[in-house]
Amino acid sequence: MAQTTLGPADLVAPLFVKEGLEEMTAVSSMPGVYQHTIESLRKAANKAVGAGVGGLLLFGIPSVKDGSGSQADADEGIVNVALRALRSDLGDSTVLIADLCLCEYTDHGHCGLLRPDGVVDNDASLTRYAAVAAAQAEAGAHVIAPSGMMDGQVAAIRSALDAVGRVDLPVLAYTAKYASAFYGPFRDAAEGAPQFGDRAGYQMDPANSDEALREVAQDLAEGADAIIVKPALPYLDIVSRVAGAVDVPVAGYQVSGEYAMIEAAAERGWVDRDRAILETVTAIRRAGADIVITYWAAELARRLLSS
Ligand code: PBG
Repeated sequence: MAQTTLGPADLVAPLFVKEGLEEMTAVSSMPGVYQHTIESLRKAANKAVGAGVGGLLLFGIPSVKDGSGSQADADEGIVNVALRALRSDLGDSTVLIADLCLCEYTDHGHCGLLRPDGVVDNDASLTRYAAVAAAQAEAGAHVIAPSGMMDGQVAAIRSALDAVGRVDLPVLAYTAKYASAFYGPFRDAAEGAPQFGDRAGYQMDPANSDEALREVAQDLAEGADAIIVKPALPYLDIVSRVAGAVDVPVAGYQVSGEYAMIEAAAERGWVDRDRAILETVTAIRRAGADIVITYWAAELARRLLSS
């Protein structure tokens, strides 16, 4: 009689790969999450796909960062090396999603290029996003997911992909991305914390709801094929409004802070970990998300398979 269903294929697993690592390294604020070497990434990806997850979302951490985030689209840049490795291992047996942003690649940690006065230069950043999208497509990504929240990013990426003949490659847009405290642990995992200031200039104000729908309309007009709402649990109302308003797939991103809170409380014996995981992911689906991006994806998929 359950109204909401949850299956392995509804889940997407984010994975981190770091250049120059000797061995995979635990992320201290996210127990169970690792920065991977190429070799350990291959194993983790294989395991997640074996458990039936619908897709993998890949983040790269380069050993050298600079003002323009040049490693994001360098041929031998870590994320592109990793995409090639995963595509050759996994072929089309899963959906390889490339997160597209500059914050992991820039020395200042902002999601776009900076003007000399330190303000993010929206339009100059779009040129970089276009180049990164083309490189990720070339390296084997099935889907490009721009997370930088620059205005016009979907249109810029769509036309860059079309220009290299990849008219078939969809854009999964981080459309309603809030300026959230719940990204804290991710910044340990991806080493992309802003070195000054914050992201409130380009991410959304948590007090705003209608603005999410304006962002959605804009991204769809620019050619987005699917939409992400992020974070998920504190924004279930947004997931629900967006899902009701569009006819494209909607993903809820259960972010690092949502993960860390439950892991930390469970460690103290304050919540039942397995129940809390299932309940929160089900809630995101119940709110209307077709897809849930969660760091528990592989574990939960395995559990769902065996239940
Ligand atoms: C930015 C990006 C962030 C996350 C995914 N992509 C961090 C940010 O915007 O500060 C957060 C994911 C999470 O917290 O799990 N490229």
